[in-house]
Amino acid sequence: MWQALPPASALRREDKNTHVGPFDAAERSEDSLHVRDGYRWLNRTLGVSAEVINLIYSPRICAMAGQLLGGTLRQAVVNGTPMGSRGPAWPGGPTDPALANDGARGVYCTLPYGDQPRQPDACHTDGHPFQLGVVGLLDDTPPGGGAFKVWPGSHRRLYPTYKLRYDQPRIPFYDHLPSFKGILHTPEYLAEIEMLNRDTKPVECWGRAGDIVFWHHRTAHMAGHNHSEVIRQAVLADFWTEDLDKFRTDDPGGDMWRDWSPEVQNAAAAYSAEFAAAQRLTD
Ligand SMILES: [Fe+2]
Repeated sequence: MWQALPPASALRREDKNTHVGPFDAAERSEDSLHVRDGYRWLNRTLGVSAEVINLIYSPRICAMAGQLLGGTLRQAVVNGTPMGSRGPAWPGGPTDPALANDGARGVYCTLPYGDQPRQPDACHTDGHPFQLGVVGLLDDTPPGGGAFKVWPGSHRRLYPTYKLRYDQPRIPFYDHLPSFKGILHTPEYLAEIEMLNRDTKPVECWGRAGDIVFWHHRTAHMAGHNHSEVIRQAVLADFWTEDLDKFRTDDPGGDMWRDWSPEVQNAAAAYSAEFAAAQRLTD
């Protein structure tokens, strides 16, 4: 992350006082592989580095993802094409950096907000096809420190509002017709997102370096606001199986877990109070 900054950057690794956002106008970058905008600092090129792939697609994490999804996991390619290289909504994205994602999404950081006033949470879902997401913390992230936030149960509520099982209709970007680009949502989806923002308290996935959270493709989520004094540093990655192309445009009707592993399909739908507390599903 530090090596990819401009040489004269005001952000200096050894001086925490310089880590507070937002990025100065001179340091902003709209390059989709190296985003520096406001408080967001995303390096997608790192997503195909051997270090990041070995870390987030480690045998243990892949074994867990494989046990959830069943089938054969797609393999990441070291030094392949990073996410954000191209996609149907480019340029002017990243509404939908869908194509040519050979590795992890990349290393996603959020600078501290400093004295920026608190803003409300607002959830969204991701448009590009995959089945299971993972966020792994690269450094300790305290409560209120910009950790990934998930809206528990949202995947089950949102899933039936989509037209397609793991994909969605999108409008391509035309240079000469710039008024619309991106994803087409159903009115049911938009209403459900609004409802989730009103009736569901998000769970904040703060934790220690090395902690990971798995999340279903249709889980409503956001990058948390960072009111701590440290940069939120995480690696984001997606899992999917070789069958995704077959599943993605299926009708989302019926059992939403039908293509997941037998272990998931046969698991009890309920969980204990202890488990809920451990996963911060209760206050
Ligand atoms: Fe997202």
